[in-house]
Amino acid sequence: MKFNITVIPGDGIGPEVTEQSIKVLEAISEMYDHTFVYEKVMMGACAIDKTGNPLPNETLASCKKSDAILFGAIGDPKYDNDPTAKVRPEQGLLKLRKELGLFCNVRPVTAYNSLLKNSPLKEEIIKDTDITIYRELTGGIYFGIKELSDDGQIAFDGCSYSVEEIERMGHLAFKAAQNRRKKLTLVDKANVLETSRLWRKTITKLAEQYKDVEVDTMFVDNAAMQLILNPKQFDVILTENLFGDILSDEASVIGGSIGLLASASIGDRNALFEPIHGSYPQAKGKDIANPLASILSAAMLLKHLGLHKESFVIEKAVQKSLELGITTQDINYENSFSTSKVGDFIVDYIHNQEDSNIN
Ligand code: IPM
Ligand code: MN
Repeated sequence: MKFNITVIPGDGIGPEVTEQSIKVLEAISEMYDHTFVYEKVMMGACAIDKTGNPLPNETLASCKKSDAILFGAIGDPKYDNDPTAKVRPEQGLLKLRKELGLFCNVRPVTAYNSLLKNSPLKEEIIKDTDITIYRELTGGIYFGIKELSDDGQIAFDGCSYSVEEIERMGHLAFKAAQNRRKKLTLVDKANVLETSRLWRKTITKLAEQYKDVEVDTMFVDNAAMQLILNPKQFDVILTENLFGDILSDEASVIGGSIGLLASASIGDRNALFEPIHGSYPQAKGKDIANPLASILSAAMLLKHLGLHKESFVIEKAVQKSLELGITTQDINYENSFSTSKVGDFIVDYIHNQEDSNIN
């Protein structure tokens, strides 16, 4: 089959990890007889440098008409350290999420057996952890009214959620739980926040439609602790935008490296796939960044397109690379492989799948 994929390499290590994913997608296209047509466009600091706009119109237009979007990373320290900057790279990604209505962010967290020793957490605590975080992505404090008083002494960020926004997210999270271990934990701060109380009320009501799913609620401060104290208690975590951002970085410690965490951002018409790690500017151009989060994001992209066995082969290849220690220095410091060598290994593994065209 033929698919149009918009590729946004972005900033920092984004281009080099995305390059590995494209290699991997090409290997898949050869072995399984698909055609992927890529359109490469700009977003983030690189787009500001070239056009003054973090999300140029042609980028948005390309994303809107594509079957899926593969994104690398965004951000540049020169903007982080300038509080007066009017235009920021991150605005590009936030605007893209909003414009495309990518309201549901899915972040799987797995403790790979071969990497249990890599986590600073005890092996017996993390072994067999398998969590999927459902983070709301187009609402909450990220998109509320922002103000700074004229004298610069008071800043304001508003947070709002509607029942509709919560319900559409809830349906997807409940359905995911039904296909997994049938447990959903709503993480909120309902003892303090009005928006959290609305989440709780709405999700509790929605639960009546998903009677086979066990629903649990947890305050976010407690959830932050429980995630590293007893992560196995979680199956699907459903939460709002800011809490999901923070908890997913924390949860990456379970997997042994943030360089392994992939994500999917899903809307009614479009979907974007990206590693959850940032632009890691210190590693830019050094061929040392871990490409596996991007490669696993490409696997999520294929699954979204209905290419399940193709996606599974990539996951198997990643497992194998971790088992054999064909990994970058964030995982395997002593005998590390470069970004491109890890990509080559995944490509070779896919090419060596003898039964690819049979099943
Ligand atoms: C993420 C990132 C973004 C977010 C930034 C880059 C705006 O941290 O995707 O988790 O906060 O959503
Ligand atoms: Mn984040």
